[in-house]
Amino acid sequence: MPSVVILISGSGSNLQAIIDASQSEQCPINIAAVISNRANAKGLERAQQANIKTAVIDHTQFNGREDFDQALVKQIDTYQPDLVVLAGFMRILTHEFVEHYTGRLINIHPALLPDFPGLNTHERAIKSGVKEHGATVHFVTTEVDGGPIILQAGVAVKSNDTAKELAQRVLQQEHRIFPLVIKWFAEKRLVLNDNKVFLDQQQLPETGINYAQVTENQ
Ligand code: GRF
Repeated sequence: MPSVVILISGSGSNLQAIIDASQSEQCPINIAAVISNRANAKGLERAQQANIKTAVIDHTQFNGREDFDQALVKQIDTYQPDLVVLAGFMRILTHEFVEHYTGRLINIHPALLPDFPGLNTHERAIKSGVKEHGATVHFVTTEVDGGPIILQAGVAVKSNDTAKELAQRVLQQEHRIFPLVIKWFAEKRLVLNDNKVFLDQQQLPETGINYAQVTENQ
């Protein structure tokens, strides 16, 4: 089974969705370790409850981004992962880190990229008046939130939505699309080649696959 290392910073609800999928055999992976940059991340408890190894590498204990990322790479590589998953990992990574894992590093972002990269996506989506918001899973490249898109799920924005309500509905979609992408990767159906995404040898459009188009048996 492919070995996966998951990086988190907080609640870890996406981590939980991935753990659940891996336990139900929908998603044939071995989660080798969960690493957090925050000692109090709730996701660490979720991992421990599932008997997954955990590690904390506290970014505040390092002199700079380079030193932190080097320590992270060193720890991750002890598990020899086939895939590294950023599941709510709230640190910008150095080019060296990203290049080290190119093609086996994926992230989830709570917006329909390329719209709303960065933080506070739900507030910004509401303010901008868009009718549709959502979530994106993408390969990570050196451009922050700019890597090639794999899968997106849309969520309708209601006229009276608060950022919290919208975030909640987006999160539900995140929990569907992230394990699915990991499953595709584990089945060796998903490949990044020359900055382009291929699923079952078919090149994906720039906005990836729309989850509404995904059929049951995928
Ligand atoms: C998610 O919305 C994710 O897209 C964003 O941070 C949040 C993490 O939530 N990057 P959780 O820790 O998985 O619950």
